[in-house]
Amino acid sequence: NRRVTVRDLAAAKQRGERWAMLTAYDALTAGVFDEAGIPVLLVGDSAGNCALGYESTVPVTMDEMTILSAAVVRGTKRAMVVGDLPFGSYQESPAQALRNAARLMKEAGVGAVKLEGGERSARTIELLTESGVPVMAHIGLTPQSVHALGGYPVQGRGDEAAHRLQRDAKAVQDAGAFAVVLEAVPAELAAHVTETMAIPTVGIGAGVGCDAQVLVWTDMAGMTAGRVPKFVKQYANLRAVLGDAAREYAEEVRGATFPAPEHSFK
Ligand code: KIV
Ligand code: NA
Repeated sequence: NRRVTVRDLAAAKQRGERWAMLTAYDALTAGVFDEAGIPVLLVGDSAGNCALGYESTVPVTMDEMTILSAAVVRGTKRAMVVGDLPFGSYQESPAQALRNAARLMKEAGVGAVKLEGGERSARTIELLTESGVPVMAHIGLTPQSVHALGGYPVQGRGDEAAHRLQRDAKAVQDAGAFAVVLEAVPAELAAHVTETMAIPTVGIGAGVGCDAQVLVWTDMAGMTAGRVPKFVKQYANLRAVLGDAAREYAEEVRGATFPAPEHSFK
């Protein structure tokens, strides 16, 4: 297997090596990140907001996740591709989760799936991992619950919430998850959880004490319109670069300076 595997990630934790994960929703962008050496690419249901034009991740379907995941797999050679199970595709029963996880593996070719929930998803994670599906868990802020949470609040603040997060982390590890995303968790708590865990933690808005980090690619590349969360660092300003290119192209078309002779056939 020339792709990154769960064993590689377990070994990285042993060695104390940190790694970066990014989301990807298409073959072209995924290929850029693969060439840049990003070891794990997540086909997040953040595709709902970032690629499909929805208001949240809630409307995203299995059909959409399958198409986007297949494109990311086709566009990459080295990265482990993790496919998100969208809202409603795994909560009904462990059997439903296995059916949809298997679909992402068979039809899209992903190497692992991700699903939200700690203790509440433990039985499902157990069946999937026993069945040969590597599972990345996702606890702390779980955006598919946006309507139940009334927004995207920071999680794990206060003793009771902190204990719940620790129980969730323990539960997904015991159920067999190979890694766990900690989203929007105070840095100190995330660092503490990371120290107590045998599997790698992947932080997003969870401070520098995690084993790995993940960002939504459109946020970190400056493609997102409007505000981005506090925990995002913008490493580029692609929205401005691409907008300028489009404006300059349109201007040259209007002024008949494009196409020039060198872009034309004799
Ligand atoms: O869908 C997504 O992009 C995610 C990451 C933010 C972890 O779940
Ligand atoms: Na997600």
